[in-house]
Amino acid sequence: MLIVGLDMGGTTTKAVLISESKIYGKTVVVASDPLAAAAGAIGKLLSELGILMSEVEAIASSGGKTKPLPPKILGLDVVEIDEIEAVGVGGLFLSGTNEGVVVSAGTGTAIVEVRRDGNRTLVRHLGGTGVGAGTLSGLGRLLLRRTNVNSIIELASKGDPRNVDLTVGDIVGGPIGLLTPDVTASNFGKVGDVVSPEDVAAGLVNMVGQVIGTVSFFAAKSVGLHDRIILVGGLVTHEPVLRAILKPIRLFGGKATVPKDPQFATAIGAALRLLTDKSSLVG
Ligand SMILES: Nc1ncnc2c1ncn2[C@@H]1O[C@H](COP(=O)(O)OP(=O)(O)OP(=O)(O)O)[C@@H](O)[C@H]1O
Ligand SMILES: [Mg+2]
Repeated sequence: MLIVGLDMGGTTTKAVLISESKIYGKTVVVASDPLAAAAGAIGKLLSELGILMSEVEAIASSGGKTKPLPPKILGLDVVEIDEIEAVGVGGLFLSGTNEGVVVSAGTGTAIVEVRRDGNRTLVRHLGGTGVGAGTLSGLGRLLLRRTNVNSIIELASKGDPRNVDLTVGDIVGGPIGLLTPDVTASNFGKVGDVVSPEDVAAGLVNMVGQVIGTVSFFAAKSVGLHDRIILVGGLVTHEPVLRAILKPIRLFGGKATVPKDPQFATAIGAALRLLTDKSSLVG
């Protein structure tokens, strides 16, 4: 049974084609109209794979922008899958483990506890933060006149966050409690009268990553899974952002992994959820 998993995110639309045993392919498109994004992603995916629409059973659609989609796209039934379920199931599947806290760092950030119990996968929404790729892009526009995340990160690579962030060492002159002198005490707390755009970009990457890492650590710790944090979403595909996310997690004693294809976790989870529902009906 072939299923298209669709993830209608705040920034990108992801589509994957899967069966019970295999992921056949995946694609990302960016389009503002939801139907154009969905139809475009599915058409692109199937064309690249040389698969006919008639070979596909249904579309499992998730993500914040799935609501405006019609009940059928290109003749295929669209089944809506709860985004939290899709994030949890997809993240756990990609990680190859039985339990963890999945952090989906996209335009915004969702944090989901997930545990496999026999054949069932139990998913619970722990919370999240509005800080994500959208924050990088929006503040990039205001402060740097750039909205493209790649371009902001490129600029950041030429800057140094220590020129804008106040560190523990700057204040105390040494470590304090758990915190080593290099740890950020105040994001943008050291901004002077003259600051380079490169340093502002580096400070933004640092702040967005550190907020996501810190919030994720404490959410995971609240359910005893701080050593099983699974990072997914488009934002973690950017190395410098990932490093900033990992810093507080490691500092506080947590552990996080990034599975292969992190940006496709939600689309894969949506498809897997529908496959499970369909096979339990058949069984
Ligand atoms: N091919 C791509 N096209 C556009 N953005 C990409 C691509 N690959 C990675 N990205 C990164 O992914 C980020 C968005 O992450 P993601 O696609 O997970 O968010 P989303 O699912 O649209 O948002 P949300 O889950 O919050 O609704 C972009 O800002 C960009 O940095
Ligand atoms: Mg998403």
